[in-house]
Amino acid sequence: MKLYTFERSYELFEEAKKYVPGGIYGPRSPHFLTFGSYPAFISRGEGARIWDVDGNEYIDYMCSFGTNLLGLRHPKVEEAVRQQQNKGDCFTLPSDLWVPLAKRLVGTIHDMGWCVFAKNGSDVTSYAITVARTATGKKGILVARGSYHGSHFWCQTYGQGVPEEWKSHIHYFEYNDVRDLERVVEACRGDIAGIILTPHRHDVLRDQELPTEAFVQRVNSLATTEGVLVIIDDIRCGFRLDIKGSAHHYGYRADLNCFGKAMANGYPIAVAMGREEYRSAAEQVFFTGTHFFSGVPFAAALSTLDEIESSGAIQRIKELGSLLVQGLRQAAEAQGIQITVSGPPAMPFMTCANDQGFEKNRFFCGEAARRGIFFHPHHNWFVCAALTEADIEKTVDVAEECFKLTRQHFET
Ligand SMILES: Cc1ncc(COP(=O)(O)O)c(C=O)c1O
Repeated sequence: MKLYTFERSYELFEEAKKYVPGGIYGPRSPHFLTFGSYPAFISRGEGARIWDVDGNEYIDYMCSFGTNLLGLRHPKVEEAVRQQQNKGDCFTLPSDLWVPLAKRLVGTIHDMGWCVFAKNGSDVTSYAITVARTATGKKGILVARGSYHGSHFWCQTYGQGVPEEWKSHIHYFEYNDVRDLERVVEACRGDIAGIILTPHRHDVLRDQELPTEAFVQRVNSLATTEGVLVIIDDIRCGFRLDIKGSAHHYGYRADLNCFGKAMANGYPIAVAMGREEYRSAAEQVFFTGTHFFSGVPFAAALSTLDEIESSGAIQRIKELGSLLVQGLRQAAEAQGIQITVSGPPAMPFMTCANDQGFEKNRFFCGEAARRGIFFHPHHNWFVCAALTEADIEKTVDVAEECFKLTRQHFET
């Protein structure tokens, strides 16, 4: 097989640097992948595939960092989008899809009585902690160390220019560690408004971890013992594990839920939802954005939710993901590479044994990218319903070759 090259991508990346600081910022920068072995720009996508600006084709296991659940350019979602586009997108007031989507979400997500819409996950996680503070009259927010809740100041984990005071009242504990959670609750007793949590641990650069039952129970009991609101950040897992939400899937008693990413199959919309008793707190929080109200993503979200339910997409991605995980484990074993594949099959992540700096993973993923399989060396992967069994087979064949190369490369 002829290995991919990326001349146009890197030419464009150099040009981008002239106009955009760093060229491409955040985790989409080629510096966060295996530099030189991945493209920098994508020109089009269809189903489970993307094509870069050099014309290289990939089976994409990043799914646009989780927004692509049904497949890119899904015909039903695109038709709903076209219909709304024909009427207009961003109006002076919300479109007439505002109520249907709100009603649909409240009828779908477990125990939620209301919702508010925005664009990005960061908008709604910030909103949710503000509702918790309003509802309780307290300031403290408990956050699991290393969890990502967005790019807003209170939850930034990297970057300069954010005074420490802007992160005051944020208290950290270790995910899944009941004792450490007790420690921070004890230390902050009397001033905790909420705890914000991803449904399971899916931080970058580590194996994923499912929550233990003891941890879920202790989080749930915080509401009754301490009056703390439980906020589930379902931005990344939402609609991949359970149509009623991942809080329901894992047994959390959520007071507030946040969704984004996959809910409109790639169109920009996010939503915060809450139990009925927090409606009045929600009304008191100032929350708006010019594009929060544009109609096209609402059309996409309604159609996406319909399609997820009617097509059985959640079961399908679980099955496809399980095939992938099984295939990777067998291929790695056949080539004498020890791997761990963690997390739910619909959003797995792979690490290599004895790979502290992720050098093996970067090498493996880079070699896979040069052969048309788009994994990520640091961030969990995603499975979309447009994949086929044949795609998984092809992926596993390429992976086996890349495991072999990885073994050879790291043999001393
Ligand atoms: C768990 C989680 N929360 C919040 C966010 C922030 O979402 P956005 O990038 O849409 O602002 C992300 C994004 O990756 C996420 O994975």
